[in-house]
Amino acid sequence: MEIAQTKAQIIEAVRGLPGRIGLAATMGALHAGHVAVIRAAKAESDSLIASLFVNPAQFGGATDFDDYPRRFDRDMEVFEKEGVDVVWAPSLDDVYPEGFGTYIDPGSIARPLEGAFRPRHFRGVATIVAKLFTLLRPDVSVFGQKDWQQTQVVAALVGDLDFDIKVLVVPTVRDEQGLALSSRNRRLSGDARRAARVLYKGLKLAADDYAAGETDAAKLRRRMLTIMAKERRCRPEYASVAHAFTLEELELAAEPMVLSCAAYVDSVRLIDNVVIGVELYGGNRAV
Ligand code: PAF
Repeated sequence: MEIAQTKAQIIEAVRGLPGRIGLAATMGALHAGHVAVIRAAKAESDSLIASLFVNPAQFGGATDFDDYPRRFDRDMEVFEKEGVDVVWAPSLDDVYPEGFGTYIDPGSIARPLEGAFRPRHFRGVATIVAKLFTLLRPDVSVFGQKDWQQTQVVAALVGDLDFDIKVLVVPTVRDEQGLALSSRNRRLSGDARRAARVLYKGLKLAADDYAAGETDAAKLRRRMLTIMAKERRCRPEYASVAHAFTLEELELAAEPMVLSCAAYVDSVRLIDNVVIGVELYGGNRAV
């Protein structure tokens, strides 16, 4: 496995890769959710690139960025074990050199939900993803369902800017209690981790209500909020019932649809979702 750190090294490494290139873009602190992404990218390509870059442009502030877990050596072991051919692990200066000033504004898909609570987040995501696509030239790029809005921002980016790249979405990986795996979970205490289960519990009950015939989206939102409100450590930010691809809020629940929520559990902000009527890579294990 080759580890490229400078731009010159990665350009050279990409030139030598045979066949279709798969990309698993990450910010490191890898867990089983990343492994699912890496494996899908490997299965769909001849040569596999993984990127590891904690992107300051998508964080709300310096504290959030600084608090993000970093585990470089362990991450390299995971990449190696999963058969990654090249890792792109650039420095901050390589990605955002002195004088950098061009950002991508992803438009309406980025405005609701996470975009409303984290105003510059998707501008940062779209910018780094466009840079990764330009430098690494993947044929296929895989993302995790947990960041559903991000997958739609990337799909819009690929369509709008004419990247010839197939975007695949793998289902969220959960622990035995249903908590979606996330690098942020490391910051949850034992009690907080137990409390965090209410996000998925609310989503699942709302999805069950829909399956039983409830189509009033306001009731489904209330269902999620009520379940989250029962846990005193949990401070919900939103519960949404939206069209899966436009992310517009629905009055009448109908497929394709995404139920999603965000909440603080103690001081850790978590997000989760279930998609209904959407085919994910490898099958939809979400609900
Ligand atoms: O999902 C992530 O880990 C990040 O948002 C990504 C896609 C690697 C861009 O920094």
